[in-house]
Amino acid sequence: MSDRLTDSEQSQTWWSRAAVYQIYPRSFRDGNADGLGDLRGVIEGLPYLASLGVDAVWLSPFYPSPQKDAGYDVSDPRAVDPMFGTLNDFAELVEQAHERGVRVIVDIVPNHVSASHPWFVEALNSPADSQARRRFHFLDGRGESGEQPPNNWESIFGGSAWTRVKEPNGSWGQWYLHLFDSTQPDLNWDNEEVRVDALNTLRFWLELGVDGFRVDVALGLAKDMTYPDLIDPIGMSQSLRFDLDPTSEEAAQRRAGLANSALFDRDEVQDIYREWRALMNSYGNDKMAVVEAWVPPERASRYVSEDTLHQIFGFDFLVVPWDAQVMRDVISRAVEAVSVVSAPPTWAMSNHDSPRVVTRLGDGDLGLARARALALVAHALPGSIYVYQGEELGLSDVEIPDSARQDPVWFRSSGQQKGRDGGRVPLPWSGSVPPYGFTDRTDAQLWLPQPDGWASATIEAQDIDPMSTLNLYRASLALRKSHPGLASGEFAFIEIDDPGLLAFQRGADVVVIANTHPHWVESPRSGMVLLASGPIEVGDNGLRIGPDTTVWLQT
Ligand code: BGC
Repeated sequence: MSDRLTDSEQSQTWWSRAAVYQIYPRSFRDGNADGLGDLRGVIEGLPYLASLGVDAVWLSPFYPSPQKDAGYDVSDPRAVDPMFGTLNDFAELVEQAHERGVRVIVDIVPNHVSASHPWFVEALNSPADSQARRRFHFLDGRGESGEQPPNNWESIFGGSAWTRVKEPNGSWGQWYLHLFDSTQPDLNWDNEEVRVDALNTLRFWLELGVDGFRVDVALGLAKDMTYPDLIDPIGMSQSLRFDLDPTSEEAAQRRAGLANSALFDRDEVQDIYREWRALMNSYGNDKMAVVEAWVPPERASRYVSEDTLHQIFGFDFLVVPWDAQVMRDVISRAVEAVSVVSAPPTWAMSNHDSPRVVTRLGDGDLGLARARALALVAHALPGSIYVYQGEELGLSDVEIPDSARQDPVWFRSSGQQKGRDGGRVPLPWSGSVPPYGFTDRTDAQLWLPQPDGWASATIEAQDIDPMSTLNLYRASLALRKSHPGLASGEFAFIEIDDPGLLAFQRGADVVVIANTHPHWVESPRSGMVLLASGPIEVGDNGLRIGPDTTVWLQT
């Protein structure tokens, strides 16, 4: 068997047209009544996920961790944190998911570890220039007694990217690099032990039957080991902006500054993924990895060529405004970027790092209408979709009191940035008051407070409401798989003489039209309505499409 996929094999793999559901374990469902989401909760939720029609789940980290960055600070990448369950629970989860035809993707966090990882503890107790310190980026400081950080790099969470340590003898000593929180020291990927250990981690989860990986901060592993000052250290911390039109000149400049820079998207990073791909291929052709790499579309294909990894998140879509022209540009650039290597494009409207899509697009009824309409655009595009838990319920961000905030972004920016907690609140399953069936422990203090007023947003309430966002998602996920045009038809934009409409064709007979206007429009195409995200009227003069509404037509 060849260890490479041909173009046509690649387009037939399960991930090329998958609906992947992102589970944020601490907020998905509590299975042991302690008030925190866990793996048993995921197992209990599998019938729900199967009824939603997803092909795979991606689990954010559930590994042992001091939870300084909600689990993205990993102290042992090959175990389960007792707060989430046991390895047996995980094995059962994989088995039960597979029985339901749902694949399992786990998160790999290779850029950094937790400060409580045994390697970092050992490094702190070892002298400068020791093998233990060489697994990280330890440097002497600048200034007369090394009292200034080694360079001007900044943490993505705010503040300097360097923290000074006390040496074992109690005196101030070297500085270590952390692109995120100071409790997340960056690993040195020039170090052989670091590379071998990551391969062991991949092997460990592959042996347990996982189907794929989501690679955290995949663009950041290789650094310029001469550690130069950056001309624009701020550019890096502000590269993840949700209020910037991704097709704007400013966005282009920000990202161009990151491409092949001292810290991000360096060419050497692909050598790492070549090793990973070879290992994954040895487990068969149906294992995949999706990379988190905020790179300009023209650099995306490097991560997903036939000897690197399989998919890259199309992040421009995550920030796309509700504007037909910008959407068209973003979609065409994303499709083109990966088509050169025959990788399937991916579409995500939200994740655990972003504002919820309803909030981003205007909040309230307006935001919800647009989010539903954007979903019907995403679900009809070629490639895979990633659905962040709660998106299928049309949830918006929750207003979190400052005293309840948890995100290190809030603390490191001294309250300048609110952080990501608003989109991470435990899911509402049933009932009319908190904890909305999330946990059986009704007096539980949840890690983030749920709001009042979620009674109509629960899974239980939406299940029986034919017009709910949940049932819209069920219908669209089913159709995108069963309708031949949507499942595998050629994709092409349709030229329409109205800048407020986005229209495209899938196969011979499916037409998708998104009306971004705040008013009704005559549909420029006729046909049988397969699905609509909002109000439509079928009259003697043809089809009319309501404001902020997308329709799927069979022509
Ligand atoms: C994850 C974040 C996390 C960061 C550091 C990201 O890209 O998605 O949630 O804070 O990596 O691990």
